[in-house]
Order: sequence, then structure tokens, then C-alpha cells
Amino acid sequence: MQHEHAHEVGTDRAVRLAAFGGPEHLAVERVPTPQAGPGEIRVRVTAAGLNPMDWFMTADAQSAARFGLSLPSGFGTDFAGVVDQVGAGAVGYAAGDRVYGAALSRALADHVVVRADGGIATGIAHHTPDGVDDRTAATLAIAGSTAAAALAVLRLGPQDTVLIGGAGGGVGVFAVQLARIAGARVIGTGSPATAEYLRSLGAEPVAYGAGLADRVRALAVAPVTAALDLHGTDTVAAARELRVPDGRLCTIAAVVEGVQAANGAQAGPAALEEIARLAAGGLLRVPIAATFPLREVRAAVELQAGRHVRGKVVVDL
Ligand SMILES: NC(=O)c1ccc[n+]([C@@H]2O[C@H](COP(=O)([O-])OP(=O)(O)OC[C@H]3O[C@@H](n4cnc5c(N)ncnc54)[C@H](OP(=O)(O)O)[C@@H]3O)[C@@H](O)[C@H]2O)c1
Repeated sequence: MQHEHAHEVGTDRAVRLAAFGGPEHLAVERVPTPQAGPGEIRVRVTAAGLNPMDWFMTADAQSAARFGLSLPSGFGTDFAGVVDQVGAGAVGYAAGDRVYGAALSRALADHVVVRADGGIATGIAHHTPDGVDDRTAATLAIAGSTAAAALAVLRLGPQDTVLIGGAGGGVGVFAVQLARIAGARVIGTGSPATAEYLRSLGAEPVAYGAGLADRVRALAVAPVTAALDLHGTDTVAAARELRVPDGRLCTIAAVVEGVQAANGAQAGPAALEEIARLAAGGLLRVPIAATFPLREVRAAVELQAGRHVRGKVVVDL
């Protein structure tokens, strides 16, 4: 199938880095269109969501090596699109299927080849449910899995009041809504300007920064019983001041002794597919802070890397 943007037959646009470093190293180049081998499917990518991991991984050679990346490197991990080639023996997918998933540091391209039964390193795809558009689907894999893994650690229920630090970001929007669906009361941290937005997600807003524990106390809601730190260590520290036991703390963004760390890889496919179903049913929404055409990938990454986005940044292909 000829992609509408592929002006030269047999070539694709793909974001490449000739050197590891900041967004100034990102370039849209022409590469040969990849072919699906045995056990693989090829996806015509229509949208790719950005995550902090995209630029953490490619920021320097040492970080890149930890993730097995080498030069010239691709960029971006979350994608959504349509299957347009199915390799021999790749079961479960047909040309025309809408899919979303993750392909480590190579999602920002007209096509991505993933294993039909793969993981994030080889690439993984899930069927996109009706009712979920491609931009939304392109935000689900990394942030949704991570939020699900964190929620699995905390096992929230209606008796809980959970403090979520960094509640309005890419992972936060999933974590807040999943916590609400579990019946918990949610206090979410953000900058003062994000208060109304956090409320719209279902969280009671509180400003992050020095004095967080005092501000949470002053909200005078029920005592905080659990906490999730999506930004650094401040939320965990405040929760400890509020006497939340370490067993009810979770972090995804730092190593804190005695606190369980959650990682998206811990969430099974069923947890992600449940999030996609919730989105399809209108029970969970993913705010898209901004979308960019591929040629503006540097601006997209700069916005994401500013760390003040509300929800997700998506690149259209
Ligand atoms: N372990 C894993 O598997 C995994 C997976 C995904 C992400 N992560 C990590 O988790 C973190 C969050 O990821 P993300 O995608 O949600 O990032 P993100 O979208 O960039 O987060 C942006 C959010 O962070 C908030 N924020 C900024 N400064 C803050 C502060 N001092 N305290 C609390 N919140 C603050 C912002 O709020 P305002 O706009 O209101 O300032 C904004 O809502 C990143 O460090 C990422 O690398 C880990």
C-alpha cells in the first residue's frame, strides 16, 4: 500500500538521529520502506505519542546504550496506525486492522515493523477498539501501562484517598482516572494554573512544591491512605509526612528506598486493553495537549521535554 505522504516509491519518512543529544539532532529523513519478515507485521503509522523516555533514551550515548540503541537511531516509541503487510506466520492480524502499540525508539516513521507476538524491544501491537481514534490510541501503550502497573501496586478501593504527584501529565491523566474508577478519592498535584484542569479529570488539586503536606492537610479531606509519585521524590516525602505507610507508596520516576517502583513492563496486555476499552466507552479520556505534523518534530519534543504538558503530545504522520 502506498502511503499518501511517501513521495518516492519505496521510501519512507523517518525521524533519525545522527548523534545522540537534544531535539536539535532530530531530522526527518528518507529511509527504505521496511518489510515485514516471518512472524512480523508492518504498520502504516498515522500518529505517534511522545513520552519522556523518548528523549531520556537518546539524550546521550550512555543512556542510549542502556536501551540497546545505536546510531543512526530512530526516535519515539508509542504509535497507532493500520496494518498494511503481514509476514508469513504472523497470526492474529490482517491488512487493514487498526492497531496501536510500542516500538522502542523507532515509532516516528511512516511504517514500523513489529513482531506479532513481541514486546516493546521487538515492537508490540494491540488492536485499536472502535471508538478510539488514532491520536488517542497513540498515547496508550507507555503511559497507560505505567499507570496500570502503579495502580496494581497500590490496590486502591473506595476506602482510599490517594495523593498523586504530577497528576496532569501523560501518566497522571491515566492514573487519576483509573484511581477514580477504582472508587478512590484523588488529590492531585500540579502548578496552580492547572487546578481547574485537574478537577476536570476528577482530582482535587493541590499545588506541588515546598509545604505540600501542609496544603494537603489544609484540604481537610479524609486522611491520605496511599500515594503515587509521577514526578520525583516530593510526593513520596509529603506522603511520609502525612504518615502514609511505605507499603502504600509507589513511584515511577525516581528510586526511593523502601518505596515500590512501578514500571510499565509490569502491566500485562490485559491491563492495557482494559484501558483501551474504557477509552472506547467514553469512561476514560486522554487529553491531547498538542499535535504537530512530523516536520515539526523538534517543536513537539521541546514542548514535551518542558515537563508542563497537560496530558499527551502527539505527532501526526
Ligand atoms: N517507570 C516507567 O515505566 C515510566 C513510564 C513512563 C514514564 N515514566 C517517568 O514518569 C515521569 C512522568 O511521566 P509523564 O509522561 O507523566 O511526564 P510528563 O507528561 O512530562 O509530566 C508532566 C507533568 O509533570 C508535572 N510537574 C512538573 N513539575 C512538577 C513538580 N515539581 N512536581 C510535580 N509535578 C510536576 C506537570 O504539572 P504542571 O504542568 O502543572 O507544572 C505536568 O502535568 C517521567 O519522569 C517519566 O520518565 C516512567
